[in-house]
Amino acid sequence: MKKKIAIFISGRGSNMVALLNNIKEGILKDLCRVELVFANKPEAAGLKIAEEFGVPTACIESKGKKREDFDREVVEFLKEYNLDYIVLAGYMRILSPLFIAAYRNKIINIHPADTSEFQGIGAYEWAFENKKAFTKITVHFVDEGVDTGKVIGKQIVDLQGCKTLEEVEKAGLAMEHSFYSEALRKVFSGEYKLEEGSKP
Ligand code: GAR
Repeated sequence: MKKKIAIFISGRGSNMVALLNNIKEGILKDLCRVELVFANKPEAAGLKIAEEFGVPTACIESKGKKREDFDREVVEFLKEYNLDYIVLAGYMRILSPLFIAAYRNKIINIHPADTSEFQGIGAYEWAFENKKAFTKITVHFVDEGVDTGKVIGKQIVDLQGCKTLEEVEKAGLAMEHSFYSEALRKVFSGEYKLEEGSKP
């Protein structure tokens, strides 16, 4: 049975596009179905792109709402979808314990650094400012902490030729776009076993 997923975005959605392509005709084709692309910002550019893919979209604006109130609203809204997984793809909001409890071990995130080295936002800036020759991308389950959940996989990114922040981002994103689908393939196919996963 195909897993029923929602993809959560807040912005341009380049990871979402890579996922939608792999769901349409790539390595995720037989493994999952996108029930919904969800954004917390009406101006998120990825929403329009998702519509062009013919995928259902929804937006509930988070601005001005308390974290838990907003999350309660989203959890209530998502109930009818009976989702197997929520895939965060540039969703720039920390999820409250209330949200995590509603979808425990069902929320997956991509983080543009090694979660044991750098947590939170600004990972490519961090790699650039610290003149890292290599960085890593982490795909992980989401728990109550910030980037502290069980790791599904890490992928090294070579930054040696990168002279600007834009080049660092470009190299990192190119890796994210292929690696996220590969990590999700392992989870949706059952190849990745949660109980064998390690913390960051
Ligand atoms: C990506 O680099 C993603 O890894 C990062 O935001 C960017 C979203 O780009 N996510 C985080 O930093 C989460 N903490 P996109 O909207 O083009 O996919």
